[in-house]
Order: sequence, then C-alpha cells, then structure tokens
Amino acid sequence: MSFENLLVEREASFAIVTINRPKVLNALNTRTLDELRRAILELKHDESVRAVVLTGSGEKSFVAGADINELAVQTPAGGREHALAGQHVLDLIEQMGKPVIAAINGYALGGGCELAMACTIRIAADTAKLGQPEINLGIIPGYAGTQRLARIVGKGRALELLLTGDQVSAQEAHRLGLVNRVVPAAELMAEAKQLAAALASKAPLAIRYILEAVHKGVEMPFPQAEVFEATLFGLVASSDDMREGTAAFLEKRKPAFKGE
Ligand code: COA
Repeated sequence: MSFENLLVEREASFAIVTINRPKVLNALNTRTLDELRRAILELKHDESVRAVVLTGSGEKSFVAGADINELAVQTPAGGREHALAGQHVLDLIEQMGKPVIAAINGYALGGGCELAMACTIRIAADTAKLGQPEINLGIIPGYAGTQRLARIVGKGRALELLLTGDQVSAQEAHRLGLVNRVVPAAELMAEAKQLAAALASKAPLAIRYILEAVHKGVEMPFPQAEVFEATLFGLVASSDDMREGTAAFLEKRKPAFKGE
C-alpha cells in the first residue's frame, strides 16, 4: 500500500494508520478520505491484522476536520456527494469487523471528531481538544456527526456541543463519555498499541460478532436485537475458537485463537 497522505505501519498483530498532512493539521481532503477508504478495505481483508490504531501525524492534531479549502467552494450537489462519501468511509471503519482504536493526539475537530467517533475505542492525550465547530462555518457535520455524537454522549450533550461549536478538553470529553481514556500525551501511542495487541489476541470471530451485535443491534427494536444476538451466539458456538477457548480454560492454559 502506498499513499500520499497516509502512513501505514505493521506490528505483529495490528496495523497503525497515521493521517499525514501535518501542515494543515491533518485536515481530510478528498484524496486523504479516499486513501483511508482503500487502506481500511485492505486491512479488513488482511487476516494477519486483528486491530488497527488510527492517529494523526505531528504533536498538535489528530484531524482538524474536513479540508476547509474544499468546503469553501462546494456546490449543493457536490456537498451532498462529499458528505455521502465521508459517511461511507467512516461506516467502513465502524463495520470493518476489527477493533479500531483512535489515538487522539491533539485536535479532533469536525470531521476529526466524527472520524474518532467511528472508531471502536477512543484514547485521548491529555492535551487533546475535541468538538464539532461546523456551526461556526455556517454548516453542519456531514460525516454522521449529528448521529454518532447523539448516540455516544446522549441527545442533550450532543446538541450543546453541536450548537455551541465549543472545543472541549480531553478531560471534559472523558466526563461526557466521548472518549474512553485520557493518558499523558507522551504515553498515548504506547497505551493505544498495548490495547491493540491485547484485543488482537482475542478470538477474532467473537470480536467481529460483538461489534456487529452492538452496532446493528442498537438500531433494531429490542426483541429483534435479542434474536440477532442469539443467532450470532449460535454461530460462534460452532467455531474452532469456541472449542479452543473453552478447552484452554479447562486445561488452565492460554488460548490460541485462529478466527475459525
Ligand atoms: N482545513 C484546511 N486547513 C486547515 C484546517 C482545516 N480543517 N485546520 C487547520 N488548517 C490549516 C490552517 O489554515 C493553517 O494553514 P496555514 O499555515 O497555511 O495558514 C494550518 O492548518 C495551521 O492551522 P492554524 O489555524 O494556524 O493553527 P492554530 O494552532 O492557530 O489553530 C485550530 C488550530 C485547529 C484551532 C484551527 O486551525 C482551526 O480552527 N481549524 C479549523 C477547525 C474546523 O473548523 N474544523 C471543522 C471543519 S468542517
């Protein structure tokens, strides 16, 4: 994989994807979004990759939003296409079937906050700032930010963030439930990598079905979601990983999951 605006590195069991446009605080232009789409699809189908860490290059910013140079000249039809394309890429991240950890190393604003919200788990450096400042540009979020924010922090808190456009500190984001953990900036990548390695050692099928049960299930009526969960439960019950996990427990050893 070779990209102009992304760095993709491999560790033994997971990959690290870095948005790499530090001069514009890693703003997402069309090319970067498309590169992200290609990278995610490739990592999704690579069985040696069991988790992904997503971060921004430099010390200042995770992603400072969609590229405002492109937004400034968009047409109504172009704006709609732009939003749909961005939503598609973030949906791919959410639906890739592997945990994606956002290592939020600085500003996560607008599309950057939306990108972090599409990830499975968000770890923020104590220096990070998050927010949806679109209102200050006379627009609204277009990468499903109005929807994911309300689902993650609740409607009341989402409306306040969306309508004020205020940036919140990592600590405040943690209090709101917008990020899972806050760590000293110098420890961010080590923490994210440690979590990625831990999740990569879990049973891949079970991980995939948990992600699917939660993401799809919360959008279904409860009784239907229960049936969906039971069906996925039945599917994992036929897996080699279930036999390995239960046997390892009974034999008092560590399981070695294969995703089969
Ligand atoms: N799109 C395009 N360029 C961006 C950008 C974006 N979303 N965010 C930052 N940049 C560019 C700036 O224009 C500047 O470029 P320049 O050096 O050519 O002037 C460079 O990145 C550095 O940003 P700057 O504003 O000088 O840094 P700062 O530390 O003073 O402020 C922010 C940092 C994040 C508060 C500020 O850049 C900002 O508000 N960015 C826009 C955030 C936003 O509204 N995002 C939502 C878009 S929908």
